[in-house]
Amino acid sequence: MSSVHSSRVVSIPDLRPLAKRRLPRVVFDYLDGGAEGEFTLRENCRAFEDLTFRPRHAVSVPSCDLRVRVLGLDLALPFILAPVGYSRLMDPQGEVAAARCAGAAGTAYILSTISGHRLEDVKAASVGPVCYQLYLMGGRAAAEGSIARARAAGYSALVVTIDTAVSGMRERDWRNGMKELMSGNLLSKVPFLPQVLTRPGWLVRFLLDGGVPDLPNVVIPGQGPMPMTDVAAALASSTVTWEDLRWIRELWPGPIVIKGVLTAEDARRAVDEGASAIVVSNHGGRQLDCVPASLQVLPEIVSAVNGQIDVLMDGGVRRGTDVIKAICLGARAVLIGRAYAYGLAAGGPAGVTRAIDILRAEIDRALKLLGCASISALDRSYVNLERNRREISEPLPA
Ligand SMILES: Cc1cc2nc3c(=O)[nH]c(=O)nc-3n(C[C@H](O)[C@H](O)[C@H](O)COP(=O)(O)O)c2cc1C
Repeated sequence: MSSVHSSRVVSIPDLRPLAKRRLPRVVFDYLDGGAEGEFTLRENCRAFEDLTFRPRHAVSVPSCDLRVRVLGLDLALPFILAPVGYSRLMDPQGEVAAARCAGAAGTAYILSTISGHRLEDVKAASVGPVCYQLYLMGGRAAAEGSIARARAAGYSALVVTIDTAVSGMRERDWRNGMKELMSGNLLSKVPFLPQVLTRPGWLVRFLLDGGVPDLPNVVIPGQGPMPMTDVAAALASSTVTWEDLRWIRELWPGPIVIKGVLTAEDARRAVDEGASAIVVSNHGGRQLDCVPASLQVLPEIVSAVNGQIDVLMDGGVRRGTDVIKAICLGARAVLIGRAYAYGLAAGGPAGVTRAIDILRAEIDRALKLLGCASISALDRSYVNLERNRREISEPLPA
């Protein structure tokens, strides 16, 4: 039996050590780590622990309805797989596997610009909806090409990430030599080789897969696909501004989602600019450290948006109860990042499916224990706002 199906794997946190065992430190820390002191990374998870439930007991709930409608899409589950760059480093099937598993489970997948697989192949792998996450790396000409390809391939929405003016300072990556692993220079890799050699299985898969891939969806006219080695520098000159959004809107007639909103002001601005949805997100604690947990600012943003567009959230979701708490505070659905990426790293496609199955079962069980028959019936009456008054940044309803 593969290790992701072992009887010892009963929760998402159980997948994390398996991922750690299978990946070299440089890749595991890239997946697991956050920016600078990792305060926000920890806060994202802690905020969920601070919020407690108000269950309705003595209620019979024989079955639960987990379906949600987001961006006009009917999803079987209240969570979507978030964009995770370099997924192909975690497993050669990377983005293709994640999309396939999401579709098979009846939910959506968001493909990162920083993908080692062609966006057409990723879309073709899934029977469900796939969205494309856009960075403006490589400039507008490169973005124009990928937007046109995403349209032609039948992507459901464009997810524009606005919190990446430069790459966050991920100290673990610098110490581990992530830059050297990505660079073409063999000599610079030598000091970091021991961490890779201790994971021969990963190394064989990585080499058979052709090593560090280019970015097949960032094609600079006249130059071809952007090499992975150029990503950090390209991100530094790829800030998406509100003016860019108007330009993007001309190229993309479908829904646009703004990812990386942390204040009521940016949320209102996104509504005014015609976004179809926003994702309350701090990029999983990987960009500006010391911003609040996504869950903490969610109520402020939900009330600023006032039902005009869908509000999604991500950051720190590791349990079915986390998904339910975010929905109680007004999220339409959540995105999961590391939760499925640990699975991908631990066991490829089987690991992604295992992560999805674990969360589905946890959500179903928690709803029954709450005495609530459906995701759509969840509201604030199911959580103790009073006790968390200092944690959740919104005045209590009168
Ligand atoms: C390894 C890794 C790579 C990521 N790459 C991207 C990316 O390319 N684009 C993006 O918008 N967000 C990216 N994110 C952020 C996720 O989409 C999501 O916001 C975050 O993972 C949510 O937090 P969680 O991991 O605690 O669930 C990445 C996250 C991780 C862990």
